[in-house]
Amino acid sequence: MASIVAGIGYIGSRLVQELLAQGQEVVGLENFFATDRRAVEQLRQSMRFRLVEGSITDSAAVARTFDEAETVEGIFLLAAQASGHPNAAAPEYTEEANLRGPRIVLDEAVRRRVSCPIVFASSMLVYGTPLPDVVDESTPYGRFADLSHLSKCYVEKLLEMYAAIHQLDCRVVRLGLTYGIAPVMKTDPRFMTAPNLFCYRAARHEPIEVRSGHALATIHVDDAVRALLQAAGWNRSPGFAIANAVGAVTTIPEIAEHVRELGVQRGLTVRIVGQGTTERPSAMPVVHSRLERDGFRPRRTLIDGLAETLDYFLKHHGC
Ligand SMILES: NC(=O)c1ccc[n+]([C@@H]2O[C@H](COP(=O)([O-])OP(=O)(O)OC[C@H]3O[C@@H](n4cnc5c(N)ncnc54)[C@H](O)[C@@H]3O)[C@@H](O)[C@H]2O)c1
Repeated sequence: MASIVAGIGYIGSRLVQELLAQGQEVVGLENFFATDRRAVEQLRQSMRFRLVEGSITDSAAVARTFDEAETVEGIFLLAAQASGHPNAAAPEYTEEANLRGPRIVLDEAVRRRVSCPIVFASSMLVYGTPLPDVVDESTPYGRFADLSHLSKCYVEKLLEMYAAIHQLDCRVVRLGLTYGIAPVMKTDPRFMTAPNLFCYRAARHEPIEVRSGHALATIHVDDAVRALLQAAGWNRSPGFAIANAVGAVTTIPEIAEHVRELGVQRGLTVRIVGQGTTERPSAMPVVHSRLERDGFRPRRTLIDGLAETLDYFLKHHGC
């Protein structure tokens, strides 16, 4: 009996760590597209973690992953070309991994008649940028700026369809921009979220570039993982449900300013450059979440998470 985690990247590695800490068996599926193989090594020290190296788009690799799990306790869909950076991947790769990949996993789940929860890591960016003034799970999709985030709409609707047609138990968690420390920490700017990238740059005495002043939703990686696990625990199978998972609503200039202040406290001079530094929304959007109605409360604050991330990068990559 094991949970399947497809995508052992930044969030997936933290999820695997948590599942192992809870005593569970975990089978990972990862093709090392955006993750350094060495970063996953520490997870492989656990006898309860098995890794299938392969692509979510390869039905044989997906079948092997299910075989390894034997009885599947939960499926977490986190494998994706997750970056909106224009040079992160060819559009064809993003389409293949993000659109076809989840469908192949769902087909395998149907074929094996699994009844476990299937949890998909979607994004708060489905509401568009800037965030509407008030957001809940019924707020319509907004405007998109990249294929990776656009693909979230397709997969959300795919899960809804498979729940209705094949009686799968599908849950979507719309995560805010995620920050904090996980076993897999990226240092390639194309694959880093702005908060972590700002901490990395500050630790290396590089300027922080701010490109937009819009309000956006954020969440600490620990809370993101708690939200995914809470969604897996909902007692409503089979069916389809969506939840927002947000710790704080803030702006990129504010995150940059926090990193600058934390840097100053550590004797760093942090330079912020870019056009977004003066823009500020007049009021911050309000985000409602059905997870909160179910008792979920974020435990980690933005400042706390930025401080630990800056300290991490100072220790491992500072100069
Ligand atoms: N990080 C965030 O701020 C954030 C916010 C909202 C939603 N999400 C979503 O959560 C999920 C995980 O995000 P993350 O930040 O950990 O990103 P990540 O890039 O670190 O993790 C995704 C993993 O999927 C792997 N992958 C890519 N193509 C694959 C393929 N064809 N087969 C198997 N594995 C493949 C990558 O190598 C990577 O390890 C993604 O779907 C992302 O869109 C992330």
